[in-house]
Amino acid sequence: MKTKFWMLAIAAAWFAAVPNFARGADDGASLYKAKCAVCHGADAAGKPAAKIPSLVSDDAKKMSDDDLVKAVTEKARHPAGVKNLPPDQVKMIVSYIRTLQK
Ligand code: HEC
Repeated sequence: MKTKFWMLAIAAAWFAAVPNFARGADDGASLYKAKCAVCHGADAAGKPAAKIPSLVSDDAKKMSDDDLVKAVTEKARHPAGVKNLPPDQVKMIVSYIRTLQK
């Protein structure tokens, strides 16, 4: 009986974990955390002392998706790893920023 329980528990844990592996760095939230949170903060509020703008300010809310995408790929202070992100990943990050802005 006990063995069966553990087998089920392990199977359940495995099935719960696999979709997360598969999504990995490909969803907007993990991309944001990996590429943007260092500077803009996990809550996207920015760091005024370091002149890093908030991405959840009224100004940022008014920016179009295109404006946000362009900012990511064109801002001089963005490191190469940010500027060279593939467009589909930038779009996923922008969608995630929209959820933070709500
Ligand atoms: C090395 C620190 C750093 C990283 C990493 C970084 N940023 Fe920035 N970001 C800045 C700074 C500094 C500015 C302001 C630069 C300027 O205005 O020229 C900025 C500006 C922006 C702006 C324009 C905001 C506005 O109000 O005009 C957006 C949008 C933005 N970043 C999004 C992102 C996203 C999305 C990522 C991750 C893919 C990212 N940034 C990663 C430092 C960073």
